[in-house]
Amino acid sequence: MNSQPLSSQPIGVFDSGVGGISVLKHIHALLPHEDLIYFADSQYAPYGNKTADEIIARCHTLTDLCLQKNAKSIVVACNTATAAAIDTLRVAYHVPFIGMEPAVKPAAAASKNGIIGVLATVGTLKSAQFAGLLEAYGRDVKVVTQAGTGLVESVERGKLNGFEMANLLQQHLKPLLEAGADTIVLGCTHYPFLADEIRKIVGNKVTLIDTGAAVAKQLQSQLMKGNYLNVNDKTGEVRFWTNSEAENAIEVIEKLWGRNTKIETI
Ligand code: DGL
Repeated sequence: MNSQPLSSQPIGVFDSGVGGISVLKHIHALLPHEDLIYFADSQYAPYGNKTADEIIARCHTLTDLCLQKNAKSIVVACNTATAAAIDTLRVAYHVPFIGMEPAVKPAAAASKNGIIGVLATVGTLKSAQFAGLLEAYGRDVKVVTQAGTGLVESVERGKLNGFEMANLLQQHLKPLLEAGADTIVLGCTHYPFLADEIRKIVGNKVTLIDTGAAVAKQLQSQLMKGNYLNVNDKTGEVRFWTNSEAENAIEVIEKLWGRNTKIETI
């Protein structure tokens, strides 16, 4: 039996791969005393073109891994996985989950001309959850969607810039810019790693919205409400696990996390 007090147990974070590290950074910045455990399911990425049942099965496996490490709370740091699996996970497990969804609501509030673009995976854009978001918050604005095909695969390889990436982003952003979007939602956790390249294409007048900071805040309030914030004064430990078979898997994680770190295999 686990005798560790709940407050000092780690927070589990997972994604289809390395994208959720963009969320992990916000969590570590806001909650530096928490121990964080991150699972990158890179062997199974991308989730964007998998069926909901396949994604649900992966999320169960990743949740079990988090619970084996005594996670007190779990962040599904993936829009696609949240759309497919969060309801099922909440029924199947007692641990509290935080999910992610494309920031349509804040984008609609931020847009000056009432035209917003959403760049996300096919899985997210086709989901019932996204349809619900549009219904709830997209009524008074024009929402133009674009699937970011190929972007997740590039980020997984650690390719964040260069000629091919610029071309791919040009293709995906063109329809959003041509429709007049003044606000673009980065609706996949891999995309914030491409923000510099996206900025070069869209210029300074377009607002880019990423949900990572809002997710970290939501997690903080969940921990405060449940009274299990870690009250230690030392900086929390951040540990990574990956099932990637790529030769440069460790290099990619360290590049995205921004420092050398301990990485184990799932
Ligand atoms: N990071 C995931 C998301 O936020 C990427 C999904 C995928 O693997 O296609 O949607």
